[in-house]
Amino acid sequence: MAESAAKNFSDDEFLAVPVSSLLHRKASLSDLYIRLGTERMIKVAHKGGAIDVERIARFGEKNVQYLYVHRSEFSGIVSDLVRGAEHLTGLHQVPHDLKITKFFNIAESVYSELLNLPISDESLGRAMRLSTEIATNLREKPDFAKLVKSVVSMGDEFSRHSLGAVVMSNLLVAQLDWSSPKLLAPITMGAFFHDIGLKELPQELWFKNRIEMSREEIALYETHPALGVQMLNSIPFITPDVLRIVQEHHEIPNGAGFPNKLRLDRIFPMAKIVSFGNMLAHEMFDPNPDQPFSLDRMAQKIDHVYSQMFTTDLARAARRIFKKDDK
Ligand SMILES: [Fe+2]
Ligand SMILES: [Fe+2]
Repeated sequence: MAESAAKNFSDDEFLAVPVSSLLHRKASLSDLYIRLGTERMIKVAHKGGAIDVERIARFGEKNVQYLYVHRSEFSGIVSDLVRGAEHLTGLHQVPHDLKITKFFNIAESVYSELLNLPISDESLGRAMRLSTEIATNLREKPDFAKLVKSVVSMGDEFSRHSLGAVVMSNLLVAQLDWSSPKLLAPITMGAFFHDIGLKELPQELWFKNRIEMSREEIALYETHPALGVQMLNSIPFITPDVLRIVQEHHEIPNGAGFPNKLRLDRIFPMAKIVSFGNMLAHEMFDPNPDQPFSLDRMAQKIDHVYSQMFTTDLARAARRIFKKDDK
């Protein structure tokens, strides 16, 4: 088969895209390949040509989860997929009420901001896979959709922050080489709902700078992790891991966090990630017209501030997220 010409595989040349997020397109935006074994790529769709789902299924030993695209075409694919996230859920009859649509609009703004930032293609790919994970949850778990609505009802800034924490926490996981897919779901859920306890507190505290808070306000603010746990406790798909992430999302390995000033390994590992992901999300996605994001400033802050708060492996992981690809 001429069109199936095999190519030698190089990790530098190709990047993976989840197959489930490609199949809604009538025409492929780029050449698509299937990876055979560890070394060969087989072309299964031409740029502009139809995506033949059955043909792909024949190649994949039963369960092909990823197709591969050329590195040069990856950014275009990612931005298309982000725009397609809502469509993805529509395919599976998710109730299309306004709140969920709004969620995807906010997701689109977070992801398109990522596309404009100098972070690596690989990181972008990870972020994009998350939209598939969230879409799957919306599709399969009505209770999840209800909870997402309650986050969205807390406003755009709050939703952007929650999604930002999801993205940054998962980028950290990817860079840490924690390869188990089992981590993706609890970290995504824990990061998305980490601040839900704030709903019980006066809104003016939600994003108030800590140094501007009175003693009483600080004490009240520090109850939001436990309030979040109370709110999520009785929901069947919220696992103990997710509850622990929510409870400990402000604990910091140097012991300066709250509510329990836990240090190092006393903090649940997934909560440590979300604690850092939460800070990076504030850094990257909070509106701050006076100080737009800069790669240099971020690198300096990781080296001089976050490396003192978090462990070396986490600080290194954060540095790798912001490494520009050498093309
Ligand atoms: Fe929080
Ligand atoms: Fe937060």
